[in-house]
Amino acid sequence: MEPETILIRGSRIVDPSRQLDRVGDLLLGGGEILAAGRLGRDRVPDGCRVINGAGLVASPGFIDLHCHLREPGFEYKETIAAGSRAGAKGGFTTLCCMPNTDPPIDNAAVVDFIHQRARHDSLVRILPIGCVTKGRKGHELAEMEELASAGVVAFSDDGDPVYDANLMRLALTYSSDLGLAISNHCQDRSLSCNGVMAEGSVATHLGLAGIPAAAEEAMIARDIALAEATGGRLHVAHLSTAGSVPLVREAKQRGLSVTAEVCPHHLTITDQWVLGDKGEPNTVAGGRAYDTSTKVYPPLRAQRDVDALIEGLADGTIDCIATDHAPHDLTSKQVTYEDAAFGISVLETALGSLLQLVHSRKLSMGAMVDRLTTGPARVLGESYADLASMQSGSPADIVLFDPSQEWTVDTSEFESKGRNTPLEGSVLKGRVVATFASGRLVYQGPELKIEEPQASP
Ligand code: DOR
Repeated sequence: MEPETILIRGSRIVDPSRQLDRVGDLLLGGGEILAAGRLGRDRVPDGCRVINGAGLVASPGFIDLHCHLREPGFEYKETIAAGSRAGAKGGFTTLCCMPNTDPPIDNAAVVDFIHQRARHDSLVRILPIGCVTKGRKGHELAEMEELASAGVVAFSDDGDPVYDANLMRLALTYSSDLGLAISNHCQDRSLSCNGVMAEGSVATHLGLAGIPAAAEEAMIARDIALAEATGGRLHVAHLSTAGSVPLVREAKQRGLSVTAEVCPHHLTITDQWVLGDKGEPNTVAGGRAYDTSTKVYPPLRAQRDVDALIEGLADGTIDCIATDHAPHDLTSKQVTYEDAAFGISVLETALGSLLQLVHSRKLSMGAMVDRLTTGPARVLGESYADLASMQSGSPADIVLFDPSQEWTVDTSEFESKGRNTPLEGSVLKGRVVATFASGRLVYQGPELKIEEPQASP
């Protein structure tokens, strides 16, 4: 599939890297953005295909700092190929994949395998994240320098925390030399114990073991202290409690190198969903209690947590939105709530979920796009800035979406192998119409009309 020369006419161009939000044209060619703005007929090359972008938003392709592509080892849950198709359908042109694979991404050979698989199978850019500890076992640091040379973009033992404080301190010390962040899954296991959902009245009502907010907050506080002591680059993965937001806010105010991400589900749904109460307009989907598709780590929390996360995202305390796309096979979910695997398949619903915040005016369109593009690019580092820019010469990684198209989530249409989402049957407003990765049309919605070039007279 060759990169195309394409003109997208008259869309709302939202490019937070240049604080740009205005209607204009976009010309893509040779895999790059050739021009963005008002283009006269004379600037349009012969043989160029044209998309009418009226009513659509065009922005840099989304960058997901946190997803699980399950390869190698768990191909029955997801593959790089299927995950990349899901990403393209969701508007993501860069996917950073977590290392809780089998074998885990803890040495250069596994990084090379992922790069190779991505070259063959992926529609979008795949950037692997390496383990902090060998085998993700938490006992001994992985060869971080070897992993960095092989091309990992960050380090994480995600799915598990870096529990040993001294190992975290060492990892943070190396992170500044390597220029790569340590993304920690903050969960103090001595507090979360055997919890399966957020601690609170819903857990009590359902008789399920709760996970206290302090399990997250205690570890974030520890990691901030260690980032301060070492000058290291800390990234807080999937931040989810009201109390975590001021911890990050104050760390930033003290000038520490601390960034954070939040997931679409923690911004839009609460632990009431575990009760089966999905609220309007999702009640039509028919809620049932103990639906294991609501089981995720960190757990869905209370409305006051959701409100604080939105506020933290809007004021820039939280740098970016990451999906934590965690696809699972049926048998991992068709069990009791206690036994079910943690995780939600998110890539294909992320935009529709997040646009609820824009439609309800809790977040501006510019801020939403920023947190999906420039925010994560900043966490990756300077050399990734052009992935989040529509300046001419940048890679033509572009998403085109209709913010007002309503659609019903139907997991039988998912590209991801993971059908595990509590949003099945929900009506979302806003959908991707086309995604270009390095100028190639990697996803095309049924509504996309492309005008073929006119034959010259
Ligand atoms: O819900 C989750 N699922 N949270 C994690 O941290 C790990 C992930 C997975 O790998 O399934």
